[in-house]
Amino acid sequence: MSIQTVATQPIAGQKPGTSGLRKTTPEFQAHHFLENFIQSIWNGIGGVKDRTLVLGGDGRHFNAEAAQVVLRMAAASGARRVIVGRNALLSTPAASNLIRKRRADGGIILSASHNPGGPEGDFGVKYNTANGGPAPENVTSKIFEATKTISEYAIFVSHDIDLSKLGEHRLGDMVVEVVDPVADYAALMQKIFDFDALRALFQGGFRIRFDAMHAITGPYATAILEDQLGAQRGSVINGTPLPDFGKGHPDPNPIWAKPLMDEMMGPDAPDFGAASDGDGDRNMVVGRGLYVTPSDSLAALAANATLIPAYAGGLQGVARSMPTSKAVDRVAQALGIECFETPTGWKFFGNLMDAGRCTLCGEESAGTGSDHVREKDGLWAVLFWLNILAKRQISVADLMAEHWAKYGRNYYSRHDYEGVDATAANALMDDLRSRLAALPGTTVAGLTITSADDFAYDDPIDGSRTEAQGIRIGFEGGARVVLRLSGTGTVGATLRVYLETVDTENLHMDAQEALAPVIAAAEELAGIKDRTGRAAPDVIT
Ligand code: G6P
Ligand code: ZN
Repeated sequence: MSIQTVATQPIAGQKPGTSGLRKTTPEFQAHHFLENFIQSIWNGIGGVKDRTLVLGGDGRHFNAEAAQVVLRMAAASGARRVIVGRNALLSTPAASNLIRKRRADGGIILSASHNPGGPEGDFGVKYNTANGGPAPENVTSKIFEATKTISEYAIFVSHDIDLSKLGEHRLGDMVVEVVDPVADYAALMQKIFDFDALRALFQGGFRIRFDAMHAITGPYATAILEDQLGAQRGSVINGTPLPDFGKGHPDPNPIWAKPLMDEMMGPDAPDFGAASDGDGDRNMVVGRGLYVTPSDSLAALAANATLIPAYAGGLQGVARSMPTSKAVDRVAQALGIECFETPTGWKFFGNLMDAGRCTLCGEESAGTGSDHVREKDGLWAVLFWLNILAKRQISVADLMAEHWAKYGRNYYSRHDYEGVDATAANALMDDLRSRLAALPGTTVAGLTITSADDFAYDDPIDGSRTEAQGIRIGFEGGARVVLRLSGTGTVGATLRVYLETVDTENLHMDAQEALAPVIAAAEELAGIKDRTGRAAPDVIT
């Protein structure tokens, strides 16, 4: 066994996006592609000599092979120990927990999140830092710089490690420690929530349907919901992770989790429905007959947080990404706590949490989380909801009705235009950006504009500034439209149009109907149909 140094050249396009480097699987499998990126991570973070890392992935196609490469490259660069989930599996929140619990120096998560997997699907690599969270911009930019100057990488020549066997293995001087991917995470959930109350809930006949979408949360949800809490066998569906996610799109929203939605809207709906994504950090919550938007979910969790043992002392503060609806803002106001507005991407919450300024946070993109880890956490959000329902003995629909009656309702929807020509999408944004200063005071589609800007974020903890994070236009009465280009797509550009309006009287309208004036204003402002050549959005959530 020896260390081999392989000559290589920079490969264009290895810039980490909103959530790590995400490419099609064939691109990742191309000659040197993965090796170049992993070596650039090591180079960008100052090497891994004597360091301890965590490694795992969502089990998609190429996960197992890529894990062996990462291990060999960690060994070749002198890492002391790598803690790996059995069979190279770890959900993103479980990986974040392990990094923190084991005081590792960082971790590699192999996942393209909710993007489809398989030989023709997507693959991804994320690097998380010692706090358990996604690498912040100053780290990812160093990694990107390293990808542009790389000339060689080091890799250990050896046989594959048998990652199905728990315990310690060796790769040269490096220890490979294979751990149960579920155990530490389940122990953490037990510390946060009232497991007795949850057991009593299920014992009382409460029915849940959890759709793991053939992705990583299957084993976690089965162990916790069915084995530990006593939910009926079969409550977790699509619970075995598959390399191609059963050819599905493991994104928990009403479009991609349609069978679950249909069941929840049907005559024999269980009390609670939920789904999670490829790597287990996203969540969808749906009650009998009512889909809860991620923005509303965050607000409801914040309003009821003290019912949960871990948050019984109250919240330090809350945070939401800019395009997420302002529903949680009013809860924060009522509670008298801080509410932060950050750019899209989980990495922006980490500083606030490390500084003790924020306990709970969330994003419109189906992410909710707290300072228990430094990633969003799908199954945690589900347990949070269940714990509230167990304590309140109320249905999801009634809880939301009560919430809206108290705080008003933020009707919310996101319209996505996918795979749009990148030049056309950039032109749309640039043109609108150039007109922003003149917009306040004008009226479009009957709505008066009160504010218009390109969102920039000044991090209150480290003072860094992040610019051009999306165009936001506010209207009289609290309605809002936000336009932004996705940072996670792999084909062309995806234009996201986020629409929001507030109502304190009509609380049970259809969202698209309630938003019709805002939708018309967005079209008039940005000429979306013309510029994208699309008559309608590809996806409406
Ligand atoms: C990933 C990140 C999220 C972010 C989302 C936005 O899922 O983990 O924090 O909200 O991407 O994706 P977009 O495609 O809108 O850039
Ligand atoms: Zn994800």
